[in-house]
Amino acid sequence: MKSSVLVVDDELLIRKSLAKVLRARGYAVEVASSGAEGLEKAGESRPQVMILDMRLPDTDGLSVLRRVRELDPLLQVIMITAFGDVQSAVDAMKLGACDFLRKPYEMEDIVLAVEAAARTFRQASELDLYRRQAWRQFSDEEIIGQSEPMNVVRDLIEKVVRSQATSVLITGESGTGKELVARAIHYRGDRAQAPLMEVNCSSFQETLLENELFGHERGAYTDASDLKKGLVELCDGGTLFLDEVGDMSLPTQAKLLRFIDHRNFKRVGGAQDITVDIRIVAATNKDLEGEVRAGRFRSDLYFRLKVVSIPLPPLRERGDDILLLARHFVGEFGRKFQKRFSDLSVEAAAVLRVYSWPGNVRELRNLIERVVLLEEGECVEPAHFPPEVLGRTNVATEGATPSEYPLPTLAEIEAGHIAEVLRLTAGNKSQAARILGISRQGLIEKLRRLRAESEVGRQVSRNNILDAPAKTR
Ligand SMILES: Nc1ncnc2c1ncn2[C@@H]1O[C@H](COP(=O)(O)OP(=O)(O)OP(=O)(O)O)[C@@H](O)[C@H]1O
Ligand SMILES: [Mg+2]
Repeated sequence: MKSSVLVVDDELLIRKSLAKVLRARGYAVEVASSGAEGLEKAGESRPQVMILDMRLPDTDGLSVLRRVRELDPLLQVIMITAFGDVQSAVDAMKLGACDFLRKPYEMEDIVLAVEAAARTFRQASELDLYRRQAWRQFSDEEIIGQSEPMNVVRDLIEKVVRSQATSVLITGESGTGKELVARAIHYRGDRAQAPLMEVNCSSFQETLLENELFGHERGAYTDASDLKKGLVELCDGGTLFLDEVGDMSLPTQAKLLRFIDHRNFKRVGGAQDITVDIRIVAATNKDLEGEVRAGRFRSDLYFRLKVVSIPLPPLRERGDDILLLARHFVGEFGRKFQKRFSDLSVEAAAVLRVYSWPGNVRELRNLIERVVLLEEGECVEPAHFPPEVLGRTNVATEGATPSEYPLPTLAEIEAGHIAEVLRLTAGNKSQAARILGISRQGLIEKLRRLRAESEVGRQVSRNNILDAPAKTR
């Protein structure tokens, strides 16, 4: 395919001669005699390479450069500067020009520069395509939702992706999709080729987290026999996802703040400053402002992170997104488990729509997974839902006082549900834990507690389920 070149120069003779030479080399050439015309033609015909004179009758070349780069970040711009105008050349390169030539230039230099620019364009667009495919590969991680609050979220993500912002804060209740958004920011942006690394700040002790983030020098501790690079260093060029940042200890917060301000750090036990270029995406389901007031979170770090923040709305505020998501999950798990389920019944949709979703999207996803795996049919029905989901629309309990209608306690519902899932999975704890949305260890602990404490626990264990031999799957 022929590459296309747009020549923007106010001198007729230059336009003519450049067009002639480039056409002879097989390029499709368009010309414009002013900045305004150049912008218009760049928008219309989407050239791959632009030859842009710094001095134009209506505006200066730099502002045209800035605008076209916004319009099409892949467009390769070769600037033509007056002899000796070093500053403009430097500015042009900073604004993303791919090359510059000084007047007077040889035609052959222009041809070489255009060839190189066309090559760069091809590579950049291949990379761009690859990146978009990488994003699509996470298609079961597609961000679903058409509601107004989710459109706001999407706009914010787009803005962050296109900006140079190096730290971003994602807030929202548990299960609202914070991790999903963090991935979106990484994979949609120009950091997608570099690593995305994640660290959960709540799963490390204070000094260990620091070690994990910033690494250590050989001999930094008595047992540190080797140099260890931290995540900050390992994901240079990419994104570091700091999950549960609200659980970070104050000393580590101080180190993080210093890093965000200076973009450099020292390994533990090291003297040398190491500079890296990473974007920090922090997430929390805590009320950080409250944490600041309670003295558990540094206010300066909070304000630094808050500059670019993406608050995720709870699922119950997303209206019909609940149904969009539910249908999406029915499809996903229907394919995965090869079941016939393909939709929600009207009644099931009504139940899902009014439930309060304390566990947000994760709860909805786990619910649909459970139903599709364990039930049969084409439509998901209310009968497939556990009592807590049905609770608010249950006609029998409507208007009844608690004494007339003995409601189960949460512990009873939990125990009953665990027992049910264990029965359906024939006591396979790994599978049961997955369906319940908790870890295998978490399930074992729950069973131990239930057995030890409660009446329901004894009930459950009378069915011999809690005492079923542990399978090692
Ligand atoms: N808008 C959405 N579209 C599709 N899937 C979603 C959406 N939001 C969340 N999910 C899915 O819900 C689950 C929970 O999301 P995620 O892990 O991102 O939540 P979180 O906010 O990080 O939760 P926590 O605070 O508990 O860590 C994931 O499986 C995720 O893929
Ligand atoms: Mg998370």
